[in-house]
Amino acid sequence: MLREDFLWGGAVAAHQIEGGWQEGGKGISIADVMTAGDVNTARRITDGVMPGENYPNHEATDFYHHYKEDIALLAEMGFKCFRTSIAWTRIYPNGDEEEPNAEGLKFYDDLFDECKKYGIEPVVTLSHFEMPYNFYKKYNGFANRKSIELFERYARTCFEHFKGKVKIWMTFNEINNQTDWHSDHHSMQDSGFKVSESENMEKAMYQAALYELVASARAVKMAHEIDPENKVGCMLAFCPIYPYSCNPRDIMEATSAMQKRYWFGDVHARGFIPEYIQAYWKRMGFGEMDITEQDLIDLSQGTVDYIGFSYYMSFVTKWKEGNDGYIYKEWEDLVSNPFVEKTAWGWAVDPEGLRYALNWLYDRYHLPMFIVENGMGAYDKVEEDGSIKDTYRVDYLKKHIKAMKAAVDEDGVDLMGYTPWAAIDIVSASTGEMDKRYGFVHVNKNNAGEGDMSRSKKDSFYWYKNVIATNGEDLESYAPKD
Ligand code: BG6
Repeated sequence: MLREDFLWGGAVAAHQIEGGWQEGGKGISIADVMTAGDVNTARRITDGVMPGENYPNHEATDFYHHYKEDIALLAEMGFKCFRTSIAWTRIYPNGDEEEPNAEGLKFYDDLFDECKKYGIEPVVTLSHFEMPYNFYKKYNGFANRKSIELFERYARTCFEHFKGKVKIWMTFNEINNQTDWHSDHHSMQDSGFKVSESENMEKAMYQAALYELVASARAVKMAHEIDPENKVGCMLAFCPIYPYSCNPRDIMEATSAMQKRYWFGDVHARGFIPEYIQAYWKRMGFGEMDITEQDLIDLSQGTVDYIGFSYYMSFVTKWKEGNDGYIYKEWEDLVSNPFVEKTAWGWAVDPEGLRYALNWLYDRYHLPMFIVENGMGAYDKVEEDGSIKDTYRVDYLKKHIKAMKAAVDEDGVDLMGYTPWAAIDIVSASTGEMDKRYGFVHVNKNNAGEGDMSRSKKDSFYWYKNVIATNGEDLESYAPKD
């Protein structure tokens, strides 16, 4: 059985829903300079906002103006919590002002008050792929030690200002995505710098991650000092990396790959830099990394209270002849899993992998687990009567909820909540599309930007409402439609 106080809800991120990119004194963020792409076309990062380009996050789903209507819909589904992020650029438009932007703080005051009105607990990420563009331009983001101080300032403002309103926090969304360091996409989203501009790209990624982990640890410590009620988690993109076969070489290749992707979690939760990753840096001849005695103290004092993670898919890796050092390059070393199906975007659908993830993480850290994202991007069809029969979404979520319940009931995992992605339709982070849909609530807007932004309930809305009402016991029925 899931806990009585299980946090059922849904997740979104500021840049993917809010829009209002120039309202309320907001500054330009990394997401504001990312163009639209699609399943075959990568998003581009332009040098500032350029005329004639299409930037889907500028308007997104206009949550900035629709939030009351949207929160009412989530309340109708029975949400216990709502995961979103604060856009750093609403609070510090350029990332380095001395004083915060009062209008930005007010927007989130109003939003969190609206949640509280319905008894919905806000679950808030401080940095979800939306660092100030100026933070990149002027400082080179987390490639610069100065970033720690700037992030601390932002985090302190949030913890002090929203004290009492927000108690469940996360620092950096999917911090470990930058394991895939061969392009600027993840380094810009996760760390606010272009890894391609570095002399040694891999080393630069690790150094930026270290500064970010120190900033995170300082924020966790600060959050506890400001309000002992605060719970702060990490946020890992968890894609288990399976060995392709029982060939011992494949097993070791997968072990090494898991270390590269999850050393971030070890630092967050255990408070020290694991030996295996330090040995790897040495082996790669990276030389000294910039990490001080004080940084190490901060890491040990700022360990997280729970493990937040997203789960969408699993990966598989296979050893290649000659790779005796088990060097893992995520963009070259993954192979297809013949045992699982894939979404239209090629993401492996593997519910059992969620049970594996919960076991792996819980065995390692013995901290409460929080699944803060899980879902399937799909093309939805609006029928003539306006209904959306998204049975594939229900099917995906049902299988994953069953796997998560098995981890709790049969494997003893302590799970505090589940917030599927996404509460409502959003702009996709990887492709910038609207038509890669995840929500229980449909937003009438397509890839071309057409539509009146009206909201409507998909069939999954009624299904999830019943799941919440029965604390996950009934995964088959739908609440009555209105
Ligand atoms: C996670 C991110 O990577 O996956 C979200 O935290 C993102 O921001 C989600 O939207 C789904 O990915 P995508 O690329 O399909 O939007």
